[in-house]
Amino acid sequence: MHRENVLTPADLIWPLFVTDGSGVEDPIASLPGVSRWSLDGIADRAREAVSLGIPCLALFPNTQPERRSEMGEEALNPDNLMCRAIRTIRDAVGDSLGVLTDVALDPYTSHGQDGLIDQAGYVLNDRTVEALVGQSLNQAAAGADIIAPSDMMDGRIAAIRAALEGESHVNVQIMAYAAKYASAFYGPFRDAVGSRGLLKGDKKTYQMDPGNSDEALREVAMDLAEGADSVMVKPGLPYLDIVRRVKDRFEVPVFAYQVSGEYAMIEAAAAAGAGDRDALVLETLLAFKRAGCSGVLTYHAAHAARLLNG
Ligand code: PBG
Repeated sequence: MHRENVLTPADLIWPLFVTDGSGVEDPIASLPGVSRWSLDGIADRAREAVSLGIPCLALFPNTQPERRSEMGEEALNPDNLMCRAIRTIRDAVGDSLGVLTDVALDPYTSHGQDGLIDQAGYVLNDRTVEALVGQSLNQAAAGADIIAPSDMMDGRIAAIRAALEGESHVNVQIMAYAAKYASAFYGPFRDAVGSRGLLKGDKKTYQMDPGNSDEALREVAMDLAEGADSVMVKPGLPYLDIVRRVKDRFEVPVFAYQVSGEYAMIEAAAAAGAGDRDALVLETLLAFKRAGCSGVLTYHAAHAARLLNG
C-alpha cells in the first residue's frame, strides 16, 4: 500500500533484432535467449507484445554484409530491412503497438561506426547529420512512431525535427539517446547487428566519458532545446545516478536502456546460481522506475511482462 514505485508491462519497450529470410530464428550466442527474427517472426513478436501489454517495440536490423558500405547508403533504402519490419508490424497489429526506430549508421556501414568517417577514421559530425536526416525521413515514411537517434552527433535533433515537420511527419516523436556513454556493455548488441568484427577503433569521440555527469545534463539540455520529446540515458543500471539527475533537472519523460551487456550479466549470474533469475529481472527493472524513468528498453521485456501479468 505504501510502495512508491511500481513496474507494469506498460513501462517496457522491447528491442528486437531483424534479419532476412523467412522462418528464421537465429540465436545470438552472447545474448542467451535473444534471437534475430525474420519478418514473419517479427509479426509474431508484435502480436505477443500486444497480448502482454507491452506498448512499444524498438527495431535493429542485421544488414546483409553485401549491403553495408563506407557511407551506409542502405540506411536510405525505402525497402531496407528496417522499413520492411515497420510495415510488417503495422500489417500485423495496426496501431495497437508503437514502433521506435534507431537512427545511426552502424548497422549499415562497412566500418561499424555510427557516422561517416574521414581518412583517419574520425567520425565527421555535420556530414553524418545530413545522412541521419535522410535515414529518419525514410523510417518515418515507412510508419515509425518514434525516431530514436542513438548516434550522439551534435545538432542532429534540430535537423531531424525540421525535416520531419517539412515532410508533414508532424506527429512523429523523437526520443533522443541524449546521454549515451562509450560503454563496454554494448558488445553483445554489436554481435547481434553484425558490427562487432567490423568496428575499427572505438566510439569515444562522440559517445560520453563514463566519468562525466554534468556533461550529461548539457547533452540533455541541447537535445530538449532542439525539439526532443523525451530523452534516454544509456547504459542503464550503472548510470541510474544520471537518470535521477536528468529527471530532477528537466521534468521530461526519461527513458533508460538496459543494454545488451547488462542483460548478459543478469543471465550469466542466474545461470551461475548467483541469484534467482526472475527476482533479478524484476528488481533491476523496478530500480529504473525508482530512479525516475518513465520506461525502460530491455531484452527482458516479454519475460518480465509475463511475470508481471502472473
Ligand atoms: C548503435 C547502438 C548501440 C546500441 C544501441 N544502438 C551500440 C553502440 O553504440 O555501439 C547498444 C544497445 C545494447 O548494447 O543493447 N548506435
